[in-house]
Amino acid sequence: MLKDRFIADIISSKYSLLGGRVRVCGWAHRIRDLGRLKFVLVRDRSGVIQATVKRGESPEEALRAAEDLKLESVVCIEGELRRAPTREGVEVKVERLEVLNSPVEPLPLEVEGSEKASLPTRLRYRWLDLRNPMVSAIFELEAMVAKVFRDYYWSQGFVEIFTPKIVAAGTESGAEVFPVVYFDKTAFLAQSPQFYKQFAVIAGLERVFEIGPVFRAEPHHTSRHLNEYHSLDIEVGFIEGYNDVMNYVEGFMRAIARMLEEEGRRILELYKVEPPRIPASGIPRIPLRKAYEILEERFGKKVEHGEDLDSEGERLMGAYASEELDSDFIFIVEYPWKVRPFYTMRKEDEPDWTYSFDLLYRGLEIVTGGQREHRYHRLLDNLNDKGLDAESFQFYLDFFKHGAPPHGGAGMGLERIVMQTLRLENIREARMLPRDTERITP
Ligand code: 4AD
Repeated sequence: MLKDRFIADIISSKYSLLGGRVRVCGWAHRIRDLGRLKFVLVRDRSGVIQATVKRGESPEEALRAAEDLKLESVVCIEGELRRAPTREGVEVKVERLEVLNSPVEPLPLEVEGSEKASLPTRLRYRWLDLRNPMVSAIFELEAMVAKVFRDYYWSQGFVEIFTPKIVAAGTESGAEVFPVVYFDKTAFLAQSPQFYKQFAVIAGLERVFEIGPVFRAEPHHTSRHLNEYHSLDIEVGFIEGYNDVMNYVEGFMRAIARMLEEEGRRILELYKVEPPRIPASGIPRIPLRKAYEILEERFGKKVEHGEDLDSEGERLMGAYASEELDSDFIFIVEYPWKVRPFYTMRKEDEPDWTYSFDLLYRGLEIVTGGQREHRYHRLLDNLNDKGLDAESFQFYLDFFKHGAPPHGGAGMGLERIVMQTLRLENIREARMLPRDTERITP
């Protein structure tokens, strides 16, 4: 028989169900054996409920099945729902106990409290780690952020697109791509949907979004880089400037904050964290050149004029935003041309700087975006200026030959958003099965 209800649903409608027969399917979370009386805590995705098997009360078959029960055995239990002095206020008096499957070897990782084990062990036995409600909550939140992303951009007139992940060229910079043998050619795993989200805007869809995997062949071993992550991308046509793109990013951040205040509360409380602060006047937007000054004057940190911020610079600007501006977010705008990809639009009056931005969340970059160069000849100049071979990008340049509107967009790291929201220490915790320099299994 198909499992018809989650444990949380049984608990929340306990008053109408009391005295009736319920069926609970899940895993044996904890077993307490008092001889004639056994308590089995059954856990499913939604919660835990106590089941009691008692000699003289439960049928012989159920007693025998309970004898064989191990931690993490898969069970279906049927019986009367009755009042009990448990945290949930109820328990199931076992009338039928079916063991659907049992572990074939001792558990290498205890589900309860698995978050305290070492990260390599947790990732090695991720199927056990994820059964810990503290851990599965991370992925529930991730799904909620993805849903907010879809809902928010739909509400703003964007349409969802699904672009190729096997591509002919890197978009973000030459070195960081994984090659793929593609018949008699070499192709690459997409580093970003960058070219094809621009394609979709130019092809007349005007405002688009995508949630998809991206692949980065960076040999980094840091707590904030993955070799495969999920990118939330937007691209929008007919903008007046890159502030329009930032407005759309900010709208999404506000929608996330609202979700966290409401449905997300329970998960935030599990992690003992607060929802992010966004000033009523908007997320502050500070030119990078001003950030250099703040870093030097306030923190004694010197950043070479025209260089990107390193992770310490980001962290300090996050601290500045939090302390001075009462904001968990800060936009840093107008990055140097030399640190941005060729598709970025250069400032009209200062071509060494660009109409681009990063968004920092609690001191970590979570979004990159800006206005794109949509004028064919300027785009060619940009490629040449970067020393890139125009021929390998001809397929992309062709998009711009027949009426490309002014446009811009942004890419946002899903795992980084979740990591910063729950204040996780390592981005790997926010990826169900992370890929890094050492891991391609499980
Ligand atoms: O800064 P990135 O590389 O920008 C792009 O992909 C552009 N095409 C976006 C655009 O529309 N202009 O990546 C965007 C975001 C970063 O801000 C970060 O949140 C995340 O993706 N990110 C990573 N997350 C995990 N692991 C990595 N190795 C990441 N690299 C970038």
